[in-house]
Amino acid sequence: MLVSSWSKDVHSLPETYVFPPDQRAGDLIALACNNPIIDLNKVVDHHDRSETIQQILKAGREFGEVVGKYSVEVSKLVLRILDLICEGLGLEHGYFADELSQVQLLSVNQYPRCPDPSLAMGMHRHCDPNVVTILKQGNIDGLQVFKDGQWISVKPLPNAFVVIIGCQLQTMEKLVSSWFSIQTMPEDYIFPPDIRPGKLIVPLCKTIPVIDLSMAEARDRNSIIKKVLNASQEFGFFQVINHGVSENLMDDAMDLFKEFFDMPADDKASVYSDDPSHSCRLFTSSYKYGHEVVHFWRDNLRRPCHPSEECIQLWPQKPTRYQEVVSKYLVEVKELSFRILELISRGLGLEPGFFKESSQLQLMSANYYPPCPDPSLTLGILRHCDPSIITILLQDVPGLQVVKDGQWVGVDALPSAFVVNIGNQLEIISNGKLKSSVHRAVANSTVTRTTISTFINPPFDCVVEPAKALVNGLNAPQYSAFLYKDFVNSNGAFGSDTEAILK
Ligand SMILES: [Fe+2]
Repeated sequence: MLVSSWSKDVHSLPETYVFPPDQRAGDLIALACNNPIIDLNKVVDHHDRSETIQQILKAGREFGEVVGKYSVEVSKLVLRILDLICEGLGLEHGYFADELSQVQLLSVNQYPRCPDPSLAMGMHRHCDPNVVTILKQGNIDGLQVFKDGQWISVKPLPNAFVVIIGCQLQTMEKLVSSWFSIQTMPEDYIFPPDIRPGKLIVPLCKTIPVIDLSMAEARDRNSIIKKVLNASQEFGFFQVINHGVSENLMDDAMDLFKEFFDMPADDKASVYSDDPSHSCRLFTSSYKYGHEVVHFWRDNLRRPCHPSEECIQLWPQKPTRYQEVVSKYLVEVKELSFRILELISRGLGLEPGFFKESSQLQLMSANYYPPCPDPSLTLGILRHCDPSIITILLQDVPGLQVVKDGQWVGVDALPSAFVVNIGNQLEIISNGKLKSSVHRAVANSTVTRTTISTFINPPFDCVVEPAKALVNGLNAPQYSAFLYKDFVNSNGAFGSDTEAILK
């Protein structure tokens, strides 16, 4: 069974060792990788130390690998490297000096000569599931790394170790919620001058209507409908209070998501994914992190919510009360959203229950924006309009900005209030009567901001078009009919502005 015990004269590869064509190494010669070789002796000098730290972080980001030039005892070497990474990431001193960085496993591999290496694999493609791996290879090539869409070879060097960044560290390195006391803005978070918020102070807008929904059930219903309509036409935004969602539940939901983002990186790593096809995932910046020139100063946890019985299986296991709190929260927010849509349909002159079939609470998205060394240079979310019917937002501190009359204005964070905004789909259904406003999220330098957005969207196969009752001889349709899924697929997360962050 052991390949190391096979006779040296095996001339043909046993069938059970032949990998399918798309997984085998093939005949293609992997290019030699010129990944960084870092001299750890230099870290004694202060100037060289910070340069070395930057080299390690850059190598970790680009290759997931660093080649150390000196051979020392492995566990000491691990701690030295982790100390430098720790310093570079702004983590507290000694962050790794616990069970997170213990040398837990020693694994020795031998790959004997193979009759046809193009058909077989020594090890399947993978990422190491740990913090770091220290690899000593003999003088024969064999390690390959996937970089910029192709396999490249890591050449063995005399007296060198290969340091491989594991999933846990990679997750922690990317997630802004895992950074501590970072003092300077990382370059890849700095937006071009025409996109960044700049030093200009954006005032909180005092005129965005705050609507008391408790009045909507009484004789004031018509005046509340009018307020909702006016706000949706003028701002595309309004806030609601006395909305029926219990304050305790709002606090519980907010505390829960704060606790989620504050969890240790290894807990978050189990939910983290870079793969945009995973609809349930924790990620950082945007859904195209690997293709971005500039990243957003935020982490995002995104969960589909419809149909709820299926989606609940995919929710995070930690914090343990996640399912209990989020299930209750979604039931109450869904009820609120349908009350608001009823007011809107009455205001537009549509029949009662107009949105019942054409809308569903489809997605919940929690954002975490930690304090940032210079909020004037970066953004939490780029300017965009929501591709929803309406979005219901819970925020703990201000950070949301909306374009009003060509200027950015801030939306205040009021106690026990939800912010409601009109999405693209409602602008279309209303045949342009209601307005979906451009908005963005900015970072701040003092406190962490956490938000919970719930998106009320059409079903993916729904045809979206101006409501028939709003189209007549005097009001021609302003928009053509389309399938909602086609809109989502062609529009991207930030419409044409998406290009601003991509390579
Ligand atoms: Fe938005």
